[in-house]
Amino acid sequence: MESQNLSQRGTWGSKAAFIFAATGSAIGLGNIWRFPMVVGENGGAVFVFVYILAVALIGFSVMLAELVIGRHAQKNPVGAIDSIKPRSPWKSIGYLGMITGIAILSYYAVLAGMLAGYFVKMISGAFRGNVTSQMTEQTFTDFSSNPFLVLFFFAVVLFITAYIISKGVKGGIERYTKVLMPILFVLIIFLAIRALTLPGAGEGIKFYLSPDFSKLNFKIVFFALGQAFFSLSLGMGTMITYGSYINKKDNLVSSAGWVSFSDTLIALLAGLIIFPTLFAIPGISPDSGPSLVFKVFPLIFSKLPGGQIFGMLFFLLLLVAAITSTISLLEVPVAYFVDERKWSRTKAAVLMGLCAALLGIPSALSWGGVKFLTKFEFWAKIDLIFGNIALAFGALLICLFVGWVWGVKKAIAEIKSGGKKFTIRHIWIFSIKYLSPIAILFILIKIIIG
Ligand code: PFF
Repeated sequence: MESQNLSQRGTWGSKAAFIFAATGSAIGLGNIWRFPMVVGENGGAVFVFVYILAVALIGFSVMLAELVIGRHAQKNPVGAIDSIKPRSPWKSIGYLGMITGIAILSYYAVLAGMLAGYFVKMISGAFRGNVTSQMTEQTFTDFSSNPFLVLFFFAVVLFITAYIISKGVKGGIERYTKVLMPILFVLIIFLAIRALTLPGAGEGIKFYLSPDFSKLNFKIVFFALGQAFFSLSLGMGTMITYGSYINKKDNLVSSAGWVSFSDTLIALLAGLIIFPTLFAIPGISPDSGPSLVFKVFPLIFSKLPGGQIFGMLFFLLLLVAAITSTISLLEVPVAYFVDERKWSRTKAAVLMGLCAALLGIPSALSWGGVKFLTKFEFWAKIDLIFGNIALAFGALLICLFVGWVWGVKKAIAEIKSGGKKFTIRHIWIFSIKYLSPIAILFILIKIIIG
């Protein structure tokens, strides 16, 4: 019975398959769209510095904690926590994660849809000839304020996501990530080299990498922490869910290390494309927010021979990276309904996809399509509440649960299962019991009370 249950849930084909899928979840718009946006809005290099600290000291520990819960219980977040601590309120971490997943998916898929639109634009040669920053600004405004186009591409992305999820973990997620992620990586390195060699790139590098610590404040720390959770897919049970499909023989510590490292590397490289380009080709301000990526990338392609081809390839791969993340957002509630309510994967994927679609409509229309939603910045409010605060709160609860309720001893036994070594366990214990929860709590309180 047990093995039948396991095979219905599916496990990853190999450790590499898990790593590709988890990295696929982590790497997405968070790295290439959101990271440059928050760096630009929060003072540049000083933000980058705090961000790296947040990933190393807190993000990595929380990721390991989530993977341990998942692999130990082999269940979705609600079921996993309930099996470790039966009938306790701690399983609300799982419910909170499901709601957060749907909420993030709702505006994330809108953005992913806009990338799909840019892919089509690239094919049709919208950015040929002498591309200027005014031109890329105008193109973005025209596109994002067209409600029909935005809603159409949004629907396409949600449909693809629900379709892949309905095919299951192995058939769906594993196959796509294996090949496409490495290609995206090579392309990003290539674009970074081009950006760094643009005349006038130096100012951008300075803004991005030379920190001015006098600018440091709580807002920066809060957004750096929120960005770390968002980018690493933490705080809502994604890594519990993905961890639940990991084989007992695999090494969780090196898996968490690899996913955190590669995710951070891609974000840092995205910044190395955006900021040098931005300063080398004047006209766009670093704090121009969510439209930054849409305005800057077409500029760099125009500086490359064969830029149209590179542009097409880039937007296509970014779309794939986004979809491997939307899949992981939808997988959290779907795994719950499949495991706990015995729904079929298809039914769960369709119904949860519809919830995200409904909530996403006002987000889609807040990019210029409908005036009052745009003024209210509807999507940005959802991003603040769910993409920052709810993820940080979820991560706080996960630390408390593993550090104090389940107990680090049992977690470490799971990490070491199969005779694995865990040399940095003292650092991890310190982080999960004290450093991470205290830091997150402090920052959340400070932000909420102002
Ligand atoms: N980590 C993804 C990104 O950086 O694009 C977004 C994301 C996926 C956040 C899954 C949270 C999550 F659970």
